[in-house]
Amino acid sequence: MTTQPEQRRTNAPASAFESLPAYVQLKKQQAEAVRLGIANPYFRSHEGVSRDTVSIDGREYLNYSGYNYLGLAGHPEVSAAARAAIDRYGTSVSARRFCSGEIPLHGELERELSGLLGTEDCVAFVSGYGTNITTIGHLFDGRDLIVHDELIHNSARLGGVLAGARRFVFPHNDFGVLDQILTQHRARFKRALIIVEGAYSMDGDIPDIPRLVELKNRHDALLMVDEAHSIGVLGKHGRGIGEHFGLAPTDVDIWMGTLSKTFASSGGFIAGSAALVETLKYTAPGFVYSVGLSPPDTAAALAAVRIMQREPERVTRLRSRIELFLRLAREAGLDTGASESAVVPVVLGDSLRCLALADALYARGINVLPILHPAVPETSARLRFFITASHTEAQIRATIGHIVEALAGIRDAVGSSVFSSSAAR
Ligand SMILES: Cc1ncc(COP(=O)(O)O)c(C=O)c1O
Repeated sequence: MTTQPEQRRTNAPASAFESLPAYVQLKKQQAEAVRLGIANPYFRSHEGVSRDTVSIDGREYLNYSGYNYLGLAGHPEVSAAARAAIDRYGTSVSARRFCSGEIPLHGELERELSGLLGTEDCVAFVSGYGTNITTIGHLFDGRDLIVHDELIHNSARLGGVLAGARRFVFPHNDFGVLDQILTQHRARFKRALIIVEGAYSMDGDIPDIPRLVELKNRHDALLMVDEAHSIGVLGKHGRGIGEHFGLAPTDVDIWMGTLSKTFASSGGFIAGSAALVETLKYTAPGFVYSVGLSPPDTAAALAAVRIMQREPERVTRLRSRIELFLRLAREAGLDTGASESAVVPVVLGDSLRCLALADALYARGINVLPILHPAVPETSARLRFFITASHTEAQIRATIGHIVEALAGIRDAVGSSVFSSSAAR
């Protein structure tokens, strides 16, 4: 009967979602921020391109909250390529690539990316997040072993869960423990997969991949590297951690990357052997049952990859800005952990102080986001700065000065008011 759905809607208990633990926790945090007079830093919408500066509510901010690493999002050539693709193909390919959603730009982008990484082939997906989920979830199963770093991105972790493989986590960059896990368990499983990131998305440090290659060969394991934050950042030409360490492309079995960071678009990719790529193209659910990458997204990423290769000076400039930020921050006594990449944390180890510092910097015209518990352990709550090639030296110097001054103001407040409350601990 037509009235039934209506009936069900009105009878739904009000607590269906209000009582969800995640919602309850969120409301508690929001109430605490309101009590402390700290504005909500999330979901602020910006009114133009997110690069070294960004406009929010009509005010221009110095910006460290976007991963437009080489300044290619908003680049006229990238935007023009996206517009031309819309003019020619429309805004959607209107089908899965498998079934008539293919356009020539898809192949062009994939050839460009496999050329960049030196692999046999490459396949592009509509989401970076979905790339990890469907690739790991599809290629591995209950007979396999997956071992990953404790700080691996949520998408790779959940890919492992979906696979149903036996999963072990090793402490961050602790390859001694990884070695032990493989020594103890490898023989019981059909295949073993090690997953790491080329540059960690919260800490910006990079793993010793040559050591991992030795380990994976010794244990007859496969190695997957998520290059989301290392392509465009590491290596002289921005080819990522493989170029940084001078690896052979085949040292890594599954190269994963996103199109949403350096490549100014949206989507993800897997590069590797022809067999790996063909398997994914014909059988991975997240590819086979999902629409093809849109024409503007494909064209934008393609233009961005080409500009990066044509203008390696962007990568050089980014490297010098990262080094400047890290040097000045460390000289000022800020805890930037082991960062060596464009992701630079300033660790405070206290979520409320992080919120307060982000708020104080925002008032000073600097847009940077706090990363709080539970996204990271409370003891490593931090502000995360994304450094880009567009930042000037003067902007970086000014920023470090502002952080130091704003922190001093917050320290004063700790003694006298809100942050001395037990809630702050
Ligand atoms: C390490 C890592 N992998 C995968 C992803 C997912 O990529 P996307 O945001 O392009 O979906 C991210 C997103 O930030 C990431 O940091």
